Amino acid sequence: MMMKTELIRIYDPAEDAEGVLRAGDILAHGGLVAIPTETVYGLAANAYDEAAVKAVYAAKGRPSDNPMIVHIAELSALPELVTAIPENAKILAEAFWPGPLTMVLPRSSKIPLTTTGGLETVAIRMPSHPVACAVIRAAGVPLAAPSANRSGSPSPTTFRHCVDDLWGLVDAIVESDDCTVGVESTVLCFLPDGTPQVLRPGAVTPEEIQRRCGCVSVAEAVLHMLPQDAAAPSPGMKYKHYAPAATLTLLCGSREDYAARVNEYYEALQRAGEEDGFYAMCFDEDVSLLEAPTISYGVAYDYPSQAQNLFDVLRQLDKLQATEVYVHAPEPEEMGLAVYNRLLRAAAFRVVHL
Ligand code: TXA
Ligand code: MG
Repeated sequence: MMMKTELIRIYDPAEDAEGVLRAGDILAHGGLVAIPTETVYGLAANAYDEAAVKAVYAAKGRPSDNPMIVHIAELSALPELVTAIPENAKILAEAFWPGPLTMVLPRSSKIPLTTTGGLETVAIRMPSHPVACAVIRAAGVPLAAPSANRSGSPSPTTFRHCVDDLWGLVDAIVESDDCTVGVESTVLCFLPDGTPQVLRPGAVTPEEIQRRCGCVSVAEAVLHMLPQDAAAPSPGMKYKHYAPAATLTLLCGSREDYAARVNEYYEALQRAGEEDGFYAMCFDEDVSLLEAPTISYGVAYDYPSQAQNLFDVLRQLDKLQATEVYVHAPEPEEMGLAVYNRLLRAAAFRVVHL
């Protein structure tokens, strides 16, 4: 069922104060608004309003056992949403909030089970994006907001991506700048002994968490496919994600080894007259060594640059009607871990170590 979608311009919350009020008003009345955050655009709804949260699942086409992140604009909003705050959560909030970090904590009764996908825990994040913060304050309630894509397509990092996915399915989309981080927030929970465990890697890296807390764990599913019957610690891990129409394969190795292998594949396809739709998704430095059509997603070893371009490039592959794509994989270290984790899922775990 199509509905009327408004485009609300908010580049600067002070200059576009009317837009902020409009977005807040729609949210306070149970509507859905796609808003920018520093990571990706989110599809926001009042986290206390079960009907609004159900409408988010419907607009995204998302399974309703996949829980949502609840966004707050100040630390003082936290205590009423949870029943306990472990010592390491306080340390991490102090270090990384506002910012791209989400912490899974025990849910208070104020958060409905619809928002948490039936779980007794709730994921909380305080974004740093000035527009996100202004809209949360204007709504006057915490906002449940998954990424503002249709389920299965890459997360949106520009307002145009939201328009492509959600026009006619939501009340409003905020027109604002492109997201600076480009991949979704780091999601972590706390093990019984208090150790933070990364469930989804992001811009706040395991190395940085280790430095602040003196310990860190990375969930098995970050780098490995879960067995079919395994209980996922984070329901989002179960679902196929960020899947472009093309078949992606990750190649891990040096610039020379990557180029040699891609050139070999491409020449074989050319001999058979079947090279249409073949792309090398590579780093800037690789381009000059490659025979095949290329699409670069950033600078080698500059993981933040790769993260920023990643989802837009995955969307471009569909527009280019790519069918077979060989991706030069980043090292799974620092923020490269987040990029690698998203690519692994886009490639349905097809990886070749050169
Ligand atoms: O950067 C972000 O986190 C963006 C922006 C909009 O804030 N949001 C986002 O939301 O990526 P979403 O819904 O696409 O991803 C939420 C992730 C999922 O993998 C979900 O399974 C996990 O967080 N999650 C949410 N609540 C959880 C909980 N109670 N326990 C474990 N994992 C949880
Ligand atoms: Mg998502």
